[in-house]
Amino acid sequence: MCGIFGSVLKEGRVAPIIHDGLKRLEYRGYDSVGFATIDSGVLQILKDKGRIDDVVESLGLDKMPGSTGVGHTRWATHGAPEMINAHPHSDCEGRVAVIHNGVIENFMELKEELLNRGHNFTSRTDTEVIAHLIEEEMKGDVGLGEAVLKALRFLEGSYAVAVVSATEPDKIYCARNESPLVLGVSDTGTFCASDVPAILPYTNKILYLRNGEFAELDKDGFTLKLINDGSTLIRAPMEIDWTIEMAEKQGYPYFMLKEMYEQPSSLRNALRLQQRYLDLLTTFLDRGEDLFLVAAGTSYYACIAASYMFSKLARLTIYPVISSEFVEQYGSSLGVDSVVLAVSQSGETYDTLQAVEHARMRAATVIGVTNTVFSSLCRRARAYISQQSGPEIGVAATKTFTSQLMVLSQLAMKLARTKGKISQDEVDELEEKMFQIPDIVEQVLERHGESIGDLVNKYVDKNLYIFLGRGISSATALEGRLKLLELTYVPSLAYPAGESKHGPISVVEEGVPVVFVCPRGESRKDIVGSIMEMKARGAKIISVCEEGDKEITSISDDVIAMPMGIPDVLSPIPYVVPLQLFAYHLAVQKSLDPDKPRNLAKSVTVP
Ligand code: AGP
Repeated sequence: MCGIFGSVLKEGRVAPIIHDGLKRLEYRGYDSVGFATIDSGVLQILKDKGRIDDVVESLGLDKMPGSTGVGHTRWATHGAPEMINAHPHSDCEGRVAVIHNGVIENFMELKEELLNRGHNFTSRTDTEVIAHLIEEEMKGDVGLGEAVLKALRFLEGSYAVAVVSATEPDKIYCARNESPLVLGVSDTGTFCASDVPAILPYTNKILYLRNGEFAELDKDGFTLKLINDGSTLIRAPMEIDWTIEMAEKQGYPYFMLKEMYEQPSSLRNALRLQQRYLDLLTTFLDRGEDLFLVAAGTSYYACIAASYMFSKLARLTIYPVISSEFVEQYGSSLGVDSVVLAVSQSGETYDTLQAVEHARMRAATVIGVTNTVFSSLCRRARAYISQQSGPEIGVAATKTFTSQLMVLSQLAMKLARTKGKISQDEVDELEEKMFQIPDIVEQVLERHGESIGDLVNKYVDKNLYIFLGRGISSATALEGRLKLLELTYVPSLAYPAGESKHGPISVVEEGVPVVFVCPRGESRKDIVGSIMEMKARGAKIISVCEEGDKEITSISDDVIAMPMGIPDVLSPIPYVVPLQLFAYHLAVQKSLDPDKPRNLAKSVTVP
C-alpha cells in the first residue's frame, strides 16, 4: 500500500499542497517520498527514502516550482526503501513521471521485453515498467493521454497511477484497477489521491474512480474514459459531508472496522505474490530436515493453522512454536538442517527476532513472512515474502492475520504440487477455491458486518466466553478468542474442542457462551459431540457453521451462517471474520475503543 496525490492548480505552487496531501496519506506507507512538478516546460523529480517531513525538509520539496504536480509516499513491496526505488519513476528520456500504488503482476515479463528494446531501468520496482511502456507508446506519435491508455492495457495486477509530463504541462493522467483512487474538483483546481482525506481540505466534491477507469485532469475538472476501449464516460462528483477525521477512517468509526472491511482487497493483494519468492521459500522448506514456524500472538495462530495446511497438503511436519519459547524448547537441537519460518506482521517483534538470531547462530536457515519490507526480520532472513497488506493501524491484527494465512496456504499448496503427495486435480481444485476466498470474505462482511452487532447484544453482560474448534478450526477459535480478550478484556478460553473433558469443562455453567467454529469438512468431525457436552452443562451455543448445516443449527442457540463449499484447509480465513466482528461489536457495546486496547502496543519490541 502506498499513497498517491496529484493536483493541477489554477494558480500558485502545488508543492505545499502535495506535502499536505501526502501527510494525510502517511498511514498508507512511509518509507520513501517523492514529488514531480512541472514549471516553465521543465519536469523536475525529487525523491528519497525517509518519512515525509524529513524528506520534504532535506530536499526542499515544498519549494519546488509549478502549479501541476504529483507526489507519492511509499510502502515498499518491490525493491528496498532506497532513493532509486522511491516514486516518481521516469522513462529513459526523463519525459514522464509516474507514481503508482499497487502490484504489477506481469512486470518481470514486461521489463524483459522493454530491456530487449533497449530501455534502461534504474530501479527494482514494478512501477518503472509503466514509465517505459508510456515512452514506448509515445514513439508512435500519439499524445500523452493516448500513450498512457495504451500502456495501461499491458498491465496485469492492481494499480492506481498518476502520470505527468512536460509535454502537457497542465495535465495529470490517472487510472485505477483495484487500488483506490479518488478525484476532487474545486474552484482552485483539480485533485487526485488514494484517499478522500488528502483532498478534503480543498473540496468535498469527490468522485470515486472505478476499476478500469482513466481520467484526464486539468485545472477546470476532469474527463473520464474506460481503459479498455477509450470510450468517454459521464459521471458527476458527489458532495460528501465527512470531517477529515471521518475521512481518514473512510467513514468507519474505527480503524479496526475499516481494516476488517479491507480484507477482500488485502487478500487479493496477498494472492499477487511474486512466484520467484514463493519458489525460493518452498525450496528452503523442501530441503530442511526439521521445520519450525515461529511467531507471537496472532501470527502464532496463523502458524498453527499453517501447520495443518503443510501437513494435509504437502505431508510435511512443521512445528508451530511461540517465539518466546523457541530457544528454550528447540534451541539446543537446531542445526544446519533446520529451517525456521518466522512470521511477523511488523517484522520487529523482540521475541521473534531473538528466536531468529538464535537460529542463525546455530546455522539454521531463517526465512520470513512479514508485512513490513526491510524490517529487522527481512534483514536477518535468507529470504522473505511480503504479505502486502499495507499498514495496519488498529492494535488488534485483522487483515494482516487473514493475509498471513493466504501467504502460508500458497506456500503449502506450492509444496503440495512439487512433492506430489496429493493429486494435481486436488491441488488445482483447491487453488481455484483459494482465489475465491476474497469474494467469500466480502460476502461474509456484507451479510454479517452489522447483524453480529445484534447477536452480541444478547451476550453483552457475560463474564466468560469459550471458543472451540477441532482440527484447523482450533486455530480459528484461538484467534477469535484473542480478539475478544484484547478488545473487551472479558476472560475467555480457547482450545481444541476435544480437550474439554480433560479439564476445562469444569468452568462451564448455565448461560456461559461457547462459540463453536465448525466448517463442513474434516474439522467438523466429532463437533456435535462437543456441542452436546457443553449444552448438557447449560452453555449457550453460538455456532459459526456452513449455511444449511441442519444438524449444527438444530443444537445451537445462535448460528452465524457461512457460505457453502469452503474447503476445511482454507476455512480459517473466512471463518475468523465473524469472530473479529464479534469482538469488535462487543467492545463497542461496552464503550471500549477497539483501536486502542489497554496495555497493548502494536509492535512489541521489548523482552
Ligand atoms: C494481535 O492482535 C496482537 N496485537 C499481537 O498478538 C500480535 O499479533 C503479536 O504481537 C505479534 O506481532 P507481529 O506479527 O508483528 O510479530
